[in-house]
Amino acid sequence: MEIRSATFVTSNTDVKKCPPPDRHEYAFIGRSNVGKSSLINMLTNQSKLAKTSATPGKTQLINHFLINNEWYLVDLPGYGYVKAAKTVRGQFGAMIRDYILRRENMVCLFVLVDSRHAPREIDLDFMAWLGENGVPFVIVFTKTDKLSARENADCVANYEKVMLEQWEHMPRVFLTSAESRQGRKELLAYLDELNRTIDNPVIE
Ligand code: GTP
Ligand code: MG
Repeated sequence: MEIRSATFVTSNTDVKKCPPPDRHEYAFIGRSNVGKSSLINMLTNQSKLAKTSATPGKTQLINHFLINNEWYLVDLPGYGYVKAAKTVRGQFGAMIRDYILRRENMVCLFVLVDSRHAPREIDLDFMAWLGENGVPFVIVFTKTDKLSARENADCVANYEKVMLEQWEHMPRVFLTSAESRQGRKELLAYLDELNRTIDNPVIE
């Protein structure tokens, strides 16, 4: 799949104010600064579509982007940074939680983790919470340009080992970099696959 058009639709703080749920959508989530907004820009080939920053906590709203006039890509605020929100297990904001549990047209959540770090409790807790709530997700490793191919492979293997202590199966994983553009083709192909099987999506 190629992205022919990508346009900003709305930003808001409340799932009830999101665009009508009349098309499928995919949302990017993960710790603050992990690279969610950068990955959206890389996928859409637009350097300024989603706002990025070296300072964590840049994205504070639920941002909808309309892709190819067909489906939504959603940039969510990061977790693990904003302390103010009342949260699930003290860590995930009510806005994120409501969005994830109530957005009926959200097909799959893309959980981003930094490829340089060993599995972190906050991410593992978040994914456990997704599992408890039956929310389909895949894992997207980011910033792979900062490591060698070998180190990235080790990172994924280690992540899998830790995940399998809690999960029966490892979710699907993608290795990506907004810098080198690694993983763009694979992610777009996966989105295409989900779009095509939308009435009966198989997340694996
Ligand atoms: P919040 O909105 O604050 O939750 O952050 P975010 O997850 O949207 O991260 P963002 O895309 O704003 O990127 C955070 C920082 O990481 C920025 O300084 C980016 O330039 C940098 N960054 C993002 N992706 C990559 C990547 O693939 N490689 C490298 N080297 N840097 C990256
Ligand atoms: Mg962001």
